[in-house]
Amino acid sequence: MENSKLCRPANLSDAGIVAEIWNQGIEDGNATLETKPRNDVFVKQWLLNREPRYSVMVAELSGEVSGWLSLNPFSQREAYKFVADISIYVKKDMRGTGIGTFLLDHGIITAVNNGFHKMVLTMIHGNEIAKKLYLSRGFLSVGILHEQGILNERWVDTEIMEKIL
Ligand SMILES: CC(C)(COP(=O)(O)OP(=O)(O)OC[C@H]1O[C@@H](n2cnc3c(N)ncnc32)[C@H](O)[C@@H]1OP(=O)(O)O)[C@@H](O)C(=O)NCCC(=O)NCCS
Repeated sequence: MENSKLCRPANLSDAGIVAEIWNQGIEDGNATLETKPRNDVFVKQWLLNREPRYSVMVAELSGEVSGWLSLNPFSQREAYKFVADISIYVKKDMRGTGIGTFLLDHGIITAVNNGFHKMVLTMIHGNEIAKKLYLSRGFLSVGILHEQGILNERWVDTEIMEKIL
């Protein structure tokens, strides 16, 4: 069907496109403090090594993977097991078309279904499009960590947001 949109669990055959979309976000320089490019081998291991409740989902638009979202452990400590730390990346040429909103809506439902109590994320302070997306879905800003990382030889502030489910 034309322009049909669906969200489904990521599988190993998505590893290449997940890595490609991830790398676009890394190259942007304002999406993540991660600097090492991903590849399909890395993503396959990343998919295989996670407990099922830490879901990874992809959005497909007309059969083409256009973005992904993951629920990641916030900490290995048992006390934090009800907190999901999220990552979300949309293919560069598909941004601004509602894929991020679509993925986040599914991510929230999946987090509830998987028994999480809250979602958190750490974003680079100043990533206004991401912040707009999170605010639109009820995330609240918790605060800013100043000079928290170094990217391109400059100190970067990060902002933490959360949503109680
Ligand atoms: C942040 C990101 C996931 C958002 O996904 P997206 O598919 O582009 O977002 P959507 O199209 O669903 O739009 C979400 C909101 O941002 C707004 N928006 C999107 N692109 C925009 C742009 N270029 N300029 C201004 N606003 C924009 C939309 O209008 C929408 O707001 P609205 O609901 O008030 O209309 C995506 O841009 C991305 O992958 N960026 C790189 C990776 C990244 O930064 N990840 C987040 C790390 S914390």
